[in-house]
Amino acid sequence: MSSPSNPPAQHGDAQRSEAQRGDAQCIGIPRETFALEKRVATVPEVVEKLVKLGFRVAIEAGAGAAANFSDDAYRAAGAEVLPDAAALWAAADIVFKVRPPTVEEVALMRAGQTLIDFIWPAQNPELMQQLAAKKVTVLAIDCLPRTLSRAQKMDALTSMAGVSGYRAVIEAANAFGRYFNGQITAAGKVPPAKVFIAGAGVAGLSAIGTAAGLGAIVRANDTRAEVADQVTSLGGEFVKVDYEEEGSGGGGYAKVMSEGFQAAQRQMYAQQAGEVDIIITTALIPGKPAPKLITAEMVQSMKPGSVIVDMAAEQGGNCELTQPGEAVVRHGVTIIGYTDLASRLAKQSSTLYATNLLRLCEELCKAKDGRAVVNMEDDAIRGLTVVKDGAITWPAPPLAQAPKPAAKPAAAPVEQKKSGHGHGSAGPLPARTLAILFAVAALAFWFIGAYAPAAFLGHFTVFVLACFIGYMVVWNVTPALHTPLMSVTNAISSIIAIGALVQIAPPDGAAGGRPDELIRWLAFAALVLTAVNMFGGFAVTRRMLAMFRK
Ligand code: NAI
Repeated sequence: MSSPSNPPAQHGDAQRSEAQRGDAQCIGIPRETFALEKRVATVPEVVEKLVKLGFRVAIEAGAGAAANFSDDAYRAAGAEVLPDAAALWAAADIVFKVRPPTVEEVALMRAGQTLIDFIWPAQNPELMQQLAAKKVTVLAIDCLPRTLSRAQKMDALTSMAGVSGYRAVIEAANAFGRYFNGQITAAGKVPPAKVFIAGAGVAGLSAIGTAAGLGAIVRANDTRAEVADQVTSLGGEFVKVDYEEEGSGGGGYAKVMSEGFQAAQRQMYAQQAGEVDIIITTALIPGKPAPKLITAEMVQSMKPGSVIVDMAAEQGGNCELTQPGEAVVRHGVTIIGYTDLASRLAKQSSTLYATNLLRLCEELCKAKDGRAVVNMEDDAIRGLTVVKDGAITWPAPPLAQAPKPAAKPAAAPVEQKKSGHGHGSAGPLPARTLAILFAVAALAFWFIGAYAPAAFLGHFTVFVLACFIGYMVVWNVTPALHTPLMSVTNAISSIIAIGALVQIAPPDGAAGGRPDELIRWLAFAALVLTAVNMFGGFAVTRRMLAMFRK
């Protein structure tokens, strides 16, 4: 593979023995041919890591150009740059791609090759047949069993949706003629923009965080009530539909809602449309056309200059007036239906996608010998494999261990709450251990009470109560607010000032009369210092809390 004109990087060579290099498979990355696609399936930083796994890496000339990765950068990372697609597909044992292969690309494939790519088997049955006829193995990254926590590092759908949600807000900001954050200027007060997000899945949550970060007032709705906490934690307000119905369809996805719910939801969305400046829609149920949530009348009711970004445009759109792939103006409202939002942030999305594929390669090549093994016994790999040596293996059977987590419903939420507060993954103590702990503590108290001097007992009781109150206060405060909490408790601890005051002015009729001059001066110094601590502490707390306020 390595030609004299393109010597691989020295550290790449150092990682692999001569014997390994002879056997090593070649990972090839062609240039994406889909119109306007700017992403590339691996980036130089990841090439180095693939080489460390023992693979050889080849890239088609110019493959990373649209995402700002030069051929030289790939060369420096240890990849060989091949002149065209034909040379690339001929050299590669494993091909990484972003968009499903075109007919021309399938024609370049050969038996025994492995393709790792977005495939969408349900939408592309013909492509599946063509791939099977080529006797190749195909790992469809969109078929990853997302509920397997072990698989999350390979979840390219989540990576892409996160980038797209962010970009949707940037597109909205670009089309919107005003600030997102509220400002007080010499020329007058500017109110913050109001943003409504429909659907709080991966893309929706990313959009909420981004819009809130820009300073907008963010509201969001989802049929799955369980996402309300996530919306709030990202700085949004969850707006409920005034209709009781369970919206979860399992696996973290929604279900089609009843007519009654939909009518109540339309009413709420109509009200929001009249109030907000920007609507970003991400509502989708996999395998179903996107629900129509924003009607033409709602668009008409929006203020002129408002913006709608319809992320579900490719699945038919959440807004009746969306034109997929285009930005149009209807009733004075800009409706953006771009279907390439991740590609519009190509460097970021390529880097994340490349990292997801690297994690997959680590699973495929546990021996780090540059040879990928598609182990169909592994649930994650089984789910991903849609064609194995020419046989269609999609859809994968439901996960065998899927019901297991459901068997212990009580443990999961508690664990989640605890980790949310930053206390690691330790689960709740079993009842027996707890009872033993209580018995031991009670015995210790009895012992101290029976034998310790009375003065010690008083101090000890205060100490134990202080520990308990401190624990309850700190543990029930969101970790983000721990720093202002510390600073306010620090300010309160300046109560020591009372001691200094007592020393400066002796109690009336005290036997000793005026205290020693030295003590008075020391008390005065203590008073000055604690005053700084007290007022400074409250001032710092106020400033820190202001950062959390809109
Ligand atoms: P997701 O499945 O994580 O989120 C969809 C959310 O919509 C879920 O939380 C679901 O509960 C909610 N939902 C479903 N029906 C609803 C309804 N009737 N009312 C309110 N909420 C409802 O999906 P993800 O990954 O966040 O993607 C969101 C959308 O963005 C999808 O349509 C996806 O295809 C699209 N997308 C578009 C891109 C682009 O370039 N335009 C790029 C990436 C994703």
